[in-house]
Amino acid sequence: MKGIELKTAAQIAKLREANLIVSDVLDVVQAAAGIGVTTWDLELVARKRLKELSAEPAFLGYRGYPAVLCTSVNSVIVHGIPRKDLALKDGDILSIDFGAFKDGWCGDSARTLPIGTISEKAAALVEATRMSLEKGIEQCVPGSRLGDIGWAVQNYVEKRGYSVVEQFAGHGIGRHMHEPPQVLNYGPAGRGPRLSAGMVLAIEPMINAGGPDVVIEDDGWTAVTKDGSLSAHFEHSVAITE
Ligand code: MF3
Ligand code: CO
Repeated sequence: MKGIELKTAAQIAKLREANLIVSDVLDVVQAAAGIGVTTWDLELVARKRLKELSAEPAFLGYRGYPAVLCTSVNSVIVHGIPRKDLALKDGDILSIDFGAFKDGWCGDSARTLPIGTISEKAAALVEATRMSLEKGIEQCVPGSRLGDIGWAVQNYVEKRGYSVVEQFAGHGIGRHMHEPPQVLNYGPAGRGPRLSAGMVLAIEPMINAGGPDVVIEDDGWTAVTKDGSLSAHFEHSVAITE
């Protein structure tokens, strides 16, 4: 259906392995994150753990991306490049996004973490973003339509006064990090191809406290909110089964 590859149970098991590695690396990075730690320190933590797990990075070299990890702080939406001169501060929110290949199969996931004590406003944004991903995942059953995922995300966050970033989307995942279909975080329900067992989708809502507009910085990667408002991001790779 529109080039969406269906994976077998054995292939889904391989994807699960890759994604468990991603989850392990994110756990280790999360444990290392804190006040005074630089985002480059976290890059090194991710590289070391990835090596221990005998897996390959998915982001490093992808369209020239220079790191294994994306570290996106506060108004950075996604694709923040780890930096030696960016130390985390009390009250920051940090999105860590990581992808890896194991035996040729790709895992991809992200989460947003509090650094020290964050404001109630920041905590509410992070929680709403996490919940919007859960709402999207709830749609991942055979017979739903692709558009139901985006509708569930958008409906959840807009009710709470947040906005959905439309510039970036989730994606199918398998032997490649990005496969068809695009998984939008917005749009009407009841549209698009029907979901069926064997589809594997990386769902990744990016939610802004303010407006939806995005600016890309001069490094060609760092995506920030145009109005400087906070942004949060969660991602999970989901296999649809019977
Ligand atoms: N999770 C993001 C994505 O699926 C991260 C990609 S970073 C990149 O697009 F450098 F690899 F592009
Ligand atoms: Co992704």
